[in-house]
Amino acid sequence: MKKFNVCVIGTGYVGLVTGTCLAEIGHRVVCVDSDKNKIARLNNGKVPIYETGLEKLVVKNTKAKRLFFTTSVKSAMDTKHRAEIIFIAVGTPPRDDGSADLSFVEDVSAEIAKNMTDYTVIVEKSTVPVETGIWIEKTITRLNQKKIPFDVVSNPEFLREGSAVADFLKPDRIIVGTSSAKAKDAMKKLYAPIKSPILFTNIKSAEIIKHASNSFLACKISFINAVANVCERTGANVEDVAKGMGLDKRIGKSFLNAGVGFGGFCFPKDLQAFGYISKDKGYDFALLKEVQRINEEQKMWIVKKCHQELWNLAGKTIAILGLAFKPNTDDIRFAPSIDIIRRLQKLKAKVKVYDPKATENAKKILKKITFCKTPYECVKNADCAAIVTEWDEIKNLDLSKTFDLMKHPIIIDGRNIFHPLTMRKKGFTYHSVGRV
Ligand code: UDX
Repeated sequence: MKKFNVCVIGTGYVGLVTGTCLAEIGHRVVCVDSDKNKIARLNNGKVPIYETGLEKLVVKNTKAKRLFFTTSVKSAMDTKHRAEIIFIAVGTPPRDDGSADLSFVEDVSAEIAKNMTDYTVIVEKSTVPVETGIWIEKTITRLNQKKIPFDVVSNPEFLREGSAVADFLKPDRIIVGTSSAKAKDAMKKLYAPIKSPILFTNIKSAEIIKHASNSFLACKISFINAVANVCERTGANVEDVAKGMGLDKRIGKSFLNAGVGFGGFCFPKDLQAFGYISKDKGYDFALLKEVQRINEEQKMWIVKKCHQELWNLAGKTIAILGLAFKPNTDDIRFAPSIDIIRRLQKLKAKVKVYDPKATENAKKILKKITFCKTPYECVKNADCAAIVTEWDEIKNLDLSKTFDLMKHPIIIDGRNIFHPLTMRKKGFTYHSVGRV
């Protein structure tokens, strides 16, 4: 197996998982980030995000001298272990108009151009709009005074938070967009230890595959949430409907769980960015706007049910179980919980919250709510409890204890983790999404 010297610029979610996993499959990887504190912590084996299995791999590969961290792009590209493949994994935050801010990508491209000494493959890993690859190429060409040969490749990531390491090491597919045979060969060798199909395309197609895949998955979720609304109004059961649909192989079973909508840093951002770029190119991709609209409305399902049970919410105590946008992560970016809590606060409800991992992150942005250390402290004396994230700990709640602690035993289950009949038998007033 050919072992490459790899440099990964940006140690956010994508960069850190990519760098660590490339070291795990045998390459020598230097990860770069301008945040000095983060790099110091990583050099001490401390991972700044909660991600299953990641810290263990960081420690293991650092010890094995395959994984290094630095704040300097120049030293990461040094001549002793010259970086043959460089991943750009810096942030592409959304602007107010929905477009992606690509200034970090441009800065890094310029830095790479200044420090290249021999043929280099530059891999665009950050999620970017179509045609970013061309801009990277143009920027590097313009600043590449010594005319060092290079190729730009698009290699989008499909990592899910909570299972990112497994997703990297056993992906459904690897997408590599390039028109260069030399870069194609390097990427094939880089990923050789991973036994998954590689699809080679041109750069623009690879860039669109990322946005189209995430938008399609978001579309599936909004579709099933819309179906859930019809089920609820007709007495059908959305879980059975989803099962029946999913048995058709053309539809597939996954991503048909009705709930209080999708969140996270990818789906909302990628939907917006794909809509923006389509419009910019003269096509109104209206379907994407509707997917977003359904999602916004779905987040408010919990608030509607609170009203239905408690009438006026001013002064009522609502317990929110789960803050993270999904289980097994401490990430609350674009989490439905935030919009739900803000609406409840606007209606002057008293909000108590519990999450096994996301509390510290939530404390930074949510004010005037009570953060609880256990789910039982959260539901104590609550007028109603709403489940927003399907953590195992919440699935395994002691329901008799919960029943006794609540002021009114009303449960609004935004993730369908309990069974309606069982809950009613236990005496709860119980609502779930698309099931009666
Ligand atoms: C996603 C993509 O899956 C991944 O390929 C991409 O690269 C990054 O974005 P992630 O954001 O980590 O990954 O989460 P994912 O597991 O896909 O869930 C996204 C959101 O959809 C969550 O809020 C989840 O609760 C919601 N969801 C998912 C549903 O509401 N129903 C479903 O059936 C599936």
